[in-house]
Amino acid sequence: MKTVRDFDVANKRVLVRCDFNVPLSETGEILDDFRIKKTIPTIEYLLGKGAKIILMSHLGRPEGKVVEEFRLTPVQDKLTEYLDISVAKAPDCIGAEIEKWTKGMRSGETLLLENLRFYKEEEENDENFAKELSKLGDIYINDAFGASHRAHASIAGITKFLPSAGGLLLEKEIEVLTSLLKNPQKPLVAVIGGKKVEDKAGVVDKISKTADLVLVSGLIEKEIKEKSLEFKYPNKIIGPVDEIGGGKDVGPETIRLFREKIMQAKTVFWSGPLGKIEDEEFAGGTKALAQAIIESKAYSVAGGGETMEFVNKLGLGEKFSHLSTGGGAMLEFLSGKSLPGLEALE
Ligand code: 3PG
Repeated sequence: MKTVRDFDVANKRVLVRCDFNVPLSETGEILDDFRIKKTIPTIEYLLGKGAKIILMSHLGRPEGKVVEEFRLTPVQDKLTEYLDISVAKAPDCIGAEIEKWTKGMRSGETLLLENLRFYKEEEENDENFAKELSKLGDIYINDAFGASHRAHASIAGITKFLPSAGGLLLEKEIEVLTSLLKNPQKPLVAVIGGKKVEDKAGVVDKISKTADLVLVSGLIEKEIKEKSLEFKYPNKIIGPVDEIGGGKDVGPETIRLFREKIMQAKTVFWSGPLGKIEDEEFAGGTKALAQAIIESKAYSVAGGGETMEFVNKLGLGEKFSHLSTGGGAMLEFLSGKSLPGLEALE
């Protein structure tokens, strides 16, 4: 895979796909900026080389409509703070006006486009939309590891229209996760929870090929049962044995069981909370899980927006061997599946 270092970017418009899909509070504040922070080295690299930087991302799932709460303004503020330069923001992500804007940019300037998912064409991987986006840059860089499991226009389609490569974050994520995938220390335990249950239930089967055990949350187990999903290694999959709050969190017996399995592991992959962690009352299971992982001697990898927010809030982030910006993307990568965003760069 080519990386940003393979291009002469001086004075070029470099269109960078980032994953700025960060958790937001009800009042629109960023609850965890891990994904933004992790993209800073690529942006600083480009600034140092005298590029004109155009950043693009999705935020949330606005389903092809403009949704005020999903505007990228809070991300613009964070970028301005971290980069210590003024980062401009466009009111849209395509169109003649924005194209003109990018053509008038000077070396060292940074522009953030508005949420790509305000257009349904983004998720449809629409060719025309990808082409419209490509008019805003001379070179395309994918630094959105966390979204590279999506065959969307700004991730996959666009590579047809511009010289393309991976960014420094994407490169780092692939490097760490590939070495782990090649030679994981066994027993390997995967823990899968979180909200995007349809996506994750599908990954359980794939990851059970490499993992010795897959511990799943009540929500994922429910999805597995409701959809009557069948697995190649059903004996490796363990769900909660008790729950509290009508399924809002795992119960004490489950905590005990999961902890016991994790303590025996040499490698742990984790993405997604076990309960409704927004309510302190139901965050206990996930807290106990995080504690068990860091107390074990296992090489620990955790990933995903919600998971990062949680471990960082508890001040435990640094205690994991690797924190990935990808949730679904990390799990799919670790299950050995090739990601559309990475395929597109080959
Ligand atoms: C994520 O949060 O895992 C990525 O940003 C992808 O978001 P999505 O699941 O809404 O496609």
